[in-house]
Amino acid sequence: MKLSARLISIIQFIPRGSTVADIGTDHALLPVYLVEEGIAQRIVAGDLNMGPLQAARKKVIETGLNERITLRQGNGLEILEPGEAEVCVIAGLGGPTIRQVIKDAGPKAMQIKRFILQPMGGSGQLREWLTDNGWRIADEDLVSEDDHIYEVILAVPGQESTSDRTLNSIGPRLFEKRHPLLSEVLTREINHNRKILDDMRQSSVVDTAVKCQTLQERNKNLEWIVECLSSAKR
Ligand SMILES: C[S@@+](CC[C@H](N)C(=O)[O-])C[C@H]1O[C@@H](n2cnc3c(N)ncnc32)[C@H](O)[C@@H]1O
Repeated sequence: MKLSARLISIIQFIPRGSTVADIGTDHALLPVYLVEEGIAQRIVAGDLNMGPLQAARKKVIETGLNERITLRQGNGLEILEPGEAEVCVIAGLGGPTIRQVIKDAGPKAMQIKRFILQPMGGSGQLREWLTDNGWRIADEDLVSEDDHIYEVILAVPGQESTSDRTLNSIGPRLFEKRHPLLSEVLTREINHNRKILDDMRQSSVVDTAVKCQTLQERNKNLEWIVECLSSAKR
C-alpha cells in the first residue's frame, strides 16, 4: 500500500516493534501500513465517529489484519486500557482538538512514551501547551504536499530546553535543524498576519488595539527568525 508523504513523515518517529494507538484513525490507512510493513506488532485504533470507524473496519477486514488491529469507537484516549500503547499518533485533527484530547486523558497520557502529533492548524498553541504541561518536543518535521505544508511533532515526557516562546511555538527542533521548509511556513504566517492587521486597522473596535500590538510583535519576531534562517544559508 502506498501512503501519502504526510503519513510517511509520521512513521519515521515510530520505533519498530512498538505498540501503537492511532486516535482519529478514519480509514485505518496508517495502522494497516504499520502492520503490513512489520513496523508495529499490534495497534489499537479509535475514532469518535461511527462512519469513519465503519470505513476502518472494512479496510481491516479486507486486508485480513483483524487479529493485529483492534478498532474501538470513542473519544480520544478513552478507548485505551492503561499501558496498552507506548506510542500514540493523533494526526489530521485540529491543534485545539489534539490539545483537548491529551488534556482529557489526564494521567493516562503520561503512560504514553511518545506522542506523534500532526495538527491541521493551531500548531503554535499546541506546542506552547505541550511544553507548559510536562512535554518536550523531541523532534519535528515538515512535509509539503498539494501546496500545503504539514507539521509533525514528536512529543515525549520531559522539560523543554528552549525557553524562548516564539521559538517554542514555531518549532524549536525545526529551527535548530534549519528545516528547509521552515522559512516558507513562517513567511506564510507573516503574510496572513499582515492581512489581519490591515483589516484591524480599518476597524473602529477599541479592543483591537491590544490584538494589533500582539500580532505586530509576533510578526517582528517571525521576521527576525526568517532573517536568521536566511543568513545561516549564506
Ligand atoms: C481528517 S481525519 C484524519 C484521519 C487520519 N488520522 C489521517 O491523518 O489521515 C480526522 C478523524 O478524527 C476523528 N476525530 C475527531 N475528533 C476525535 C476525537 N476527539 N477522538 C477520536 N477521533 C476523533 C474524526 O471522526 C475523523 O475520522
